Amino acid sequence: MQYRIALIPGDGIGPEILKAGVQVLQAVAGLYGFTFAWTEFPYSCAYYLEHGVMIPEDGFETLRQYNAILLGAVGDPRLVPDHVSLRGLLVPLRQRFDLYVNYRPARLLAGLPSPLKGDPPFDFVVVRENSEGEYAGTGGRVRVGTQDEVALQTTVFTRKGVERIVRYAFDLARKRRKRLASATKSNAMQYVFVMWDEVVEQVACEYPEVEVQRYHADALAAMLVRDPGHFDVIVASNLIGDILTDLAGAIQGSLGLPASANLNPERSAPSLFEPVHGSAPDIAGRGIANPLATFWASSLLLEYLSQQAAASMLLYAVETVIAQSQVLTPDLGGEATTVEVTKAVIQTLMQGHVL
Ligand code: NAI
Ligand code: MG
Repeated sequence: MQYRIALIPGDGIGPEILKAGVQVLQAVAGLYGFTFAWTEFPYSCAYYLEHGVMIPEDGFETLRQYNAILLGAVGDPRLVPDHVSLRGLLVPLRQRFDLYVNYRPARLLAGLPSPLKGDPPFDFVVVRENSEGEYAGTGGRVRVGTQDEVALQTTVFTRKGVERIVRYAFDLARKRRKRLASATKSNAMQYVFVMWDEVVEQVACEYPEVEVQRYHADALAAMLVRDPGHFDVIVASNLIGDILTDLAGAIQGSLGLPASANLNPERSAPSLFEPVHGSAPDIAGRGIANPLATFWASSLLLEYLSQQAAASMLLYAVETVIAQSQVLTPDLGGEATTVEVTKAVIQTLMQGHVL
């Protein structure tokens, strides 16, 4: 079995952590008897400076040919404004490939202190709507730069779009601890989020075994800090899910840990896997980027390719390295380099398989 994977290293620490991800995936594939064929694409801010676009028009069709996409991080605010780089590559990929599920697990891994008092255990997944909502991209600015300037950004929620993400979240909750939290601001935004709440209520009738709780997103954010163990599956809009998952990353100990799967559940286009974090320009080129988020994303990629045993083994190796060898990058309080953490994970993989 061979999988064709498109690699987009991107900017900043993107290339450093993606290289590590490929090495680890190669090692896992060797253990489980399948192979990868990698193709690297240069889409990044440097590419934009040369070509005036983050990705050429035919780039989307080329990427469609692959089984999946693994992305490092994109953004270099010194060269290209963030809204240009984000809206030039990642957002159009999510929209055109209909990657409407952004699946972001959050778990306190054994051996890691959380910044939360008492290190409360937690294990939840944020299911973020990834194709419309606040990031739909509709709006405009007039009389730019004058005192009379007007800027409008319209949120777009379709009943179909809300229903499919809510249904996905219910399906997931049913397979897990059967508890779903829906995060909105339906008190302040009476059109889109009231429709969202209605959809949740309707879909809930089909899942009587799943307990549903509705939250205002601000209250849920506070609850994530006070009692993260309460949550199982959280479903949220594009913007709310984006914010909650950085918070989820922070309570896990570092943004260098959480991973993100951009899924097209119908598989009409390849899904995209990436760390939650960005290109970290402040540490780029120093060899100290934490590759664990990329390994976790790689594990999600393996799951998507139906290599469940390999996916579990990779995550197990990550947890073992954290809990036992304590080979950690500075963001987790260690002194190890990206290369050393990668070596430790590969070594653990090899040993784990023998056991
Ligand atoms: P960021 O996630 O790049 O960095 C935030 C902080 O976390 C920094 O102090 C950074 O050093 C640290 N950090 C992040 N990843 C780390 C890792 N693997 N190991 C150790 N420390 C890590 O977010 P920021 O600074 O807001 O954005 C930087 C650039 O990344 C911007 O251009 C932004 O647009 C872009 N970005 C791209 C994303 C993507 O490609 N999916 C997601 C988020 C931001
Ligand atoms: Mg974010």
